[in-house]
Amino acid sequence: MLQTFRNINDSLHDLFKDAAKKCFNIDDSIEITQSTKDHFGDYQCNSALKMSKELGLPPRAIAEKLIAHLDNSLGMVKHCEIAGPGFINIHLQESFLEKEITLTLGDDRLGVPTPDQKKRIVCEFSSPNVAKEMHVGHLRSTIIGDALARLLEFLGHDVLRLNHIGNWGTQFGMLITYLKRFQPEVIDDASEQALETLMSWYKAAKVKFDEDPSFKKQSQEEVVRLQSGDPIARKAWSQICEISRRSFQEIYERLDICLTERGESYYNDMLPVVIRDFEEKGLCQIDDGAKVVFLSGFINKEGEPLPLIIQKSDGGYNYATTDLAGFKQRVQIEKAERIIIVTDAGQALHFQMVYQAALKVGYIDPRKTRFDHVPFGVVLAPNGKKFKTREGETEKLSDLIDEAVRRAKEALLERDPKAEDLDERAAIIGTGSIKYADLSGNRVKDYTFSYDRMLQFEGNTASFILYAYVRIQSIKRNIDVDLKTLLSTPKIELTHPSEIALALHLRRFGEALSAMDEELLPNRLTDYLFALAEKFHAFFRDCHVMGSEHQNSRLLLCELTGRILAKGLQILGIKTVEKM
Ligand code: ARG
Repeated sequence: MLQTFRNINDSLHDLFKDAAKKCFNIDDSIEITQSTKDHFGDYQCNSALKMSKELGLPPRAIAEKLIAHLDNSLGMVKHCEIAGPGFINIHLQESFLEKEITLTLGDDRLGVPTPDQKKRIVCEFSSPNVAKEMHVGHLRSTIIGDALARLLEFLGHDVLRLNHIGNWGTQFGMLITYLKRFQPEVIDDASEQALETLMSWYKAAKVKFDEDPSFKKQSQEEVVRLQSGDPIARKAWSQICEISRRSFQEIYERLDICLTERGESYYNDMLPVVIRDFEEKGLCQIDDGAKVVFLSGFINKEGEPLPLIIQKSDGGYNYATTDLAGFKQRVQIEKAERIIIVTDAGQALHFQMVYQAALKVGYIDPRKTRFDHVPFGVVLAPNGKKFKTREGETEKLSDLIDEAVRRAKEALLERDPKAEDLDERAAIIGTGSIKYADLSGNRVKDYTFSYDRMLQFEGNTASFILYAYVRIQSIKRNIDVDLKTLLSTPKIELTHPSEIALALHLRRFGEALSAMDEELLPNRLTDYLFALAEKFHAFFRDCHVMGSEHQNSRLLLCELTGRILAKGLQILGIKTVEKM
């Protein structure tokens, strides 16, 4: 596939690899990293130390040889120095960066390489449950999953975004029975019903189920009817789902989330096939009447083998059966080459077991399909406790978004009492702040939800990044130069150290995205954007733009910074504002 741009670390990697091959006939030991401190140069190669053991030579001697044999015909490297026991600090040539930034200005991918292979990727996230409120855990899944999907789409992959809604199971028998007895008109039309009403029916149905044997019996029969496709049971079920769907959709619209609904019910017909597949391969055992699979390495607290139940003793299927069917369908029908599932960390063991079982039965071939369960920590309130409202109820997501937007509006008004387009901008800043705050921490850790912190102007927040973007737009408005003409024959000159540092960081956008892709960590991108905003502010402090002899070149640097900030935010699912 055509590959116009490469990441600098990859190009340097090749140069050092070639040198290692020439000098020592080995090439698999080279590693290139971004330097962690300015005085270590721009990139580092610390591989001489590792190679020293292999080659029986002192690391400094190896480093010297590598540097002497570096092919610098592209003019990338200004100089290398050897530090300490044999670290190589690599300094890039400014003229190389000037050329690269000029090219990046003409590239609609902003210098980000296209992947070697375009992949078919199933990315599953959000996945709330019918007849229940979407909670903060689902909000995290939604925000993280959407950012990952946006990244993979921007990189050029073919992404199927799936919402694995919990819409199947025994609780529906109870709900259908309740509707039939007490709300029969709803079975024909539930368009007026709110999720709160549905949840109150759910509670009432549960009470009935526990105390009234005839209700319980009918509920159990309704489950069977539903699963075998009885038209009335199906109709009632789809009304119940529709009520939930409307309420979920409201959240998705506010957050600008696009998803294909494919809930648990989708896999219903495949469930007996899954059991048959396991039985035919002799992988299934009976344990207490249930069908289970034993997988090596999984033990319970008592140190005994921990089984994965795939069919309950009453013949019903469970969460694991559906997820196994999911693997089968996504690999065999969707032809997924990568499967990503975003859920809270509490489900990690479940996915480890289901994945092992899917490998065993042959649903997934790890050489052809990569699977990642993407776990995240729980949401905490600023007091360190689990996130709840004062009444002890779980906070409604729409209220939570309302509050962030309200506060964003207040802040905008405070800065400019005559501000225009307030609501639109407040919505962008409010929802953007919720998303950014969630994405900017390492997702695996628990996350403390704080309106005060997420809406701050200073620090690693959406507002700080947006503010850098807004500043650039105002610079562009204030300089009386036609940007289009400038962009048609761009010329970049890098003189001041802050300017060079900004240019280097701009050229590293692809490295940040590639790190986010590899580790599925959105905070790789937020860290990059935070540093970009900081480097931009330093550049703006140190380098005159308007009226300077470098005005045009610097205006172009501003322009590229603005574009990369906007693209980075877009990948995180955050829109930009022109003023704030
Ligand atoms: N509905 C589940 C929950 O609320 C999440 C589903 C996750 N996906 C899956 N394939 N099991 O916890």
